[in-house]
Amino acid sequence: MATARDQSWQLLQGSAADATAVEKLSATAFDPAFREAWSAQQLVRGLEDPGAFLLLASTMEGELLGFALTRATAGEAELLLCAIAPGWRRRGLASGLVAAAMAEARNRGARRLYLEVRENNVGARSLYESLGFRPVGSRPGYYKSVTGGTATAITLSRSLD
Ligand SMILES: CC(C)(COP(=O)(O)OP(=O)(O)OC[C@H]1O[C@@H](n2cnc3c(N)ncnc32)[C@H](O)[C@@H]1OP(=O)(O)O)[C@@H](O)C(=O)NCCC(=O)NCCS
Repeated sequence: MATARDQSWQLLQGSAADATAVEKLSATAFDPAFREAWSAQQLVRGLEDPGAFLLLASTMEGELLGFALTRATAGEAELLLCAIAPGWRRRGLASGLVAAAMAEARNRGARRLYLEVRENNVGARSLYESLGFRPVGSRPGYYKSVTGGTATAITLSRSLD
């Protein structure tokens, strides 16, 4: 698979065998207040769906730096989860992963890609906007925080044509 922007990292196809490494990275990457990270068991179960695919960003030596989990079914795709290790952000890794996920979803026959993002997740909203995603809906109270608060989910979408 092609590498992007610089030569210090690469994009790879992942599998259920990477679930533990993805879980470990997720524990450092997601805001713990909203329990957005998936456990290794949830990841393995998610990857049992024949439409699901996992893309990884890693160093050339194989250290996991980020991932994107996507599901493509019946002409539509959903980006379920994407995160980059804190020390590797703003280097184009998420952009590269999401672009590769869009290409793979298109290959699998999807015409649109959807995702949910927390309204107050400024970095992620900026990332997806830069990739051409636009808001198509919202779900107030979708995210429940560990302290009892809630946050709205914004549904974003873009055409894959
Ligand atoms: C959101 C996240 C995936 C972005 O990953 P990344 O590899 O740093 O993103 P990129 O380097 O590809 O950023 C591309 C563009 O998105 C925007 N962007 C990314 N992170 C941003 C931030 N924290 N603040 C503002 N803009 C941001 C910028 O326009 C950026 O381009 P630039 O660096 O040239 O200005 C990463 O911050 C992350 O893992 N966050 C925690 C998990 C999460 O929120 N996942 C998304 C919800 S599922």
